[in-house]
Amino acid sequence: MAVRINPSILTADFANLEHELGRIATADLVHVDVMDNHFVPNLTFGQRMVESLQRVTPLPLDVHLMIDDPDRWAPGYADAGAYSVTFHAEAVADPVALARRLRQIGARAGIAVKPGTAIEPYLELLPEFDQVLVMTVEPGFGGQSFIESTMPKLRQLRDAIGLGGLDVWLQVDGGINEQTIVTAAEAGADTFVAGSSVFNTGDPAAQIATLRAAAVAHVH
Ligand code: DX5
Ligand code: ZN
Repeated sequence: MAVRINPSILTADFANLEHELGRIATADLVHVDVMDNHFVPNLTFGQRMVESLQRVTPLPLDVHLMIDDPDRWAPGYADAGAYSVTFHAEAVADPVALARRLRQIGARAGIAVKPGTAIEPYLELLPEFDQVLVMTVEPGFGGQSFIESTMPKLRQLRDAIGLGGLDVWLQVDGGINEQTIVTAAEAGADTFVAGSSVFNTGDPAAQIATLRAAAVAHVH
């Protein structure tokens, strides 16, 4: 199975993002954390940042919306050129309608669940999505510790994806480093977001290679 390493720019130097993107050129996608200070207690950036980032990197953008009312705002990120737009299950009113709208615009559609949110209600909706994001920390901040009790959700999702013969990427986000990526890969993840473990190092490209090798060795 293919493995994807998506560095999160949340821990990058916001004043030098073009330079920071250059340091992760070997990544598969760039993970862009949009926060509105309502859905999560932190504020980052919005649609114009996505447009600007896309102008200075050839990498596809993996936009993670930690915002209220994604039904209203998410399509704008697809319009802005995001390759993938992921909204939160806890915030959305009509996940199927929104996923269809995102796909219609040409983006991949993703749904995210916080650590305490059960996955069962969403299993039957899997054909509507290109990606499911299982948060492995409470959303809002980089640099937190991986919550291992989220792993059964990955196993449930991997089984459902296999049973349905579906092509849905299974993403984890939060506390991913060279140890926890093994746990997540063994549980069924194939797409790995890493913020502080990539950017809080002198050599992000080397860390991407280390993470990739660890994931490849343990993915199903
Ligand atoms: C947290 C964000 C993550 C964050 C991960 O709410 O969604 O993408 O950047 O950071 P690390 O890898 O440091 O846990
Ligand atoms: Zn994220």
